[in-house]
Amino acid sequence: MILLTGATGKTGMAAAKAIAAAGKKARVVTRDAAKAAQLTALGHELAVGDLSDAAFLREAMRGIERAFLLLPNTERQGAMEAQFTDIAKAAGVRHLVKISSIEAHAGIGARVPEMHAASEAHIKASGMAWTMVKPNFFMQTLLAASAGVKARGELTMPMGNGRVSMVDCRDAGAVIAKALLEPGHEGQSYKLTGPESLNFAEIATRMSAILGKPVKYVDPPLTAYRENLLKALPDPWRVEAVCEIFATTAKGQREIEALTDTVQRLLGRSPVGLDTFISDYKPAFA
Ligand SMILES: NC(=O)c1ccc[n+]([C@@H]2O[C@H](COP(=O)([O-])OP(=O)(O)OC[C@H]3O[C@@H](n4cnc5c(N)ncnc54)[C@H](OP(=O)(O)O)[C@@H]3O)[C@@H](O)[C@H]2O)c1
Repeated sequence: MILLTGATGKTGMAAAKAIAAAGKKARVVTRDAAKAAQLTALGHELAVGDLSDAAFLREAMRGIERAFLLLPNTERQGAMEAQFTDIAKAAGVRHLVKISSIEAHAGIGARVPEMHAASEAHIKASGMAWTMVKPNFFMQTLLAASAGVKARGELTMPMGNGRVSMVDCRDAGAVIAKALLEPGHEGQSYKLTGPESLNFAEIATRMSAILGKPVKYVDPPLTAYRENLLKALPDPWRVEAVCEIFATTAKGQREIEALTDTVQRLLGRSPVGLDTFISDYKPAFA
C-alpha cells in the first residue's frame, strides 16, 4: 500500500490522479475529509489527520510499503519531516519518496531549500530506500500574481532579470506517481524543469500573446514586495521564506536557470511548457 501526503494540494493531487490512472490505489492524508471528495471518487482510501500528530501517523503507516512526503513551507516543516521519516522507518516502510527542491543544498542562504537539504540527509541516513523529487520553481507560483495580471495587466514579482526553468507541478505529480509505482527509482534524485528558461519580462510577453491583452513585468524592490506580502500572508516566517527564494532567483543561479531532461526521460513526453500552463489557467489571469 502507498501512503500519499499532500494529496489535496497542487502536486499531491496530480500524483493521486496519476496513481488512479495506473489502476492503483493509495491511502491519502488530509486534515479535512470535506476536501477529499475528488480523491475518494478516484478510489483512494482516506486517512484524516494532522502530520504533526505522531499517534495519527503511526496508525496511517500501518501496512504501508511506500510513502510520499510533502509538507508546505512552515517553520515546523523540518521537524515534521524528520518525525515522519522516523515513524515511517519504525513502521517498516521500505521506500520513501520526498518532494524537495532543485536548489536544495546547505549554505544557499534561503531557509526552505536548506531545510529540504537537511530533510534529504535525514532520509538518506535512515536506511530506507529513497527517491528525491526536486522540482524547480512551479509555474503555478505565477498564480500568486494573477490578480495583478487580471486587473492591471501587470506581472509583479521581485525577480530582477533572473531566469528560471519553471516546471508545472502536474509534471512533478506524474514523476512522483512513477517513483511510487515502479521499481528502479531507489537512490535517485530527480531534478525537474520545464522545457525552457525564461526571465519574467519574457514570461509577461508570453502572457500578453496567450491572454490577448498587454501584460508588462513589474519588478518591485524586495522591501516593498515584502510589506505587501505581509498584508496578505499572516505568517512572517513564510513571508521571509518566500522573499529569500525570490532573492536567490533574482540574483541568478545555475540550478534555477539550467534545463534538465528528467521529465522527458521518465514520462516519455515533453514537459508542460509555459504557453500550455497559461492557456490551462487562463480564467485565473484573464
Ligand atoms: N512552489 C514551488 O515553486 C516549489 C518548487 C519546488 C518544491 N516545492 C515544495 O513543494 C511543497 C509544496 O507542494 P504544493 O505546492 O503542491 O503544496 P500545496 O498545494 O500547498 O498543498 C499542501 C498540502 O499539504 C497538506 N498539509 C498541510 N499541512 C498539513 C498537516 N499539518 N498535516 C497534514 N497535511 C498537511 C494539505 O492538506 P490538507 O489541507 O488537505 O490537510 C495539502 O494537501 C513544499 O515542500 C515546497 O517546498 C515547491
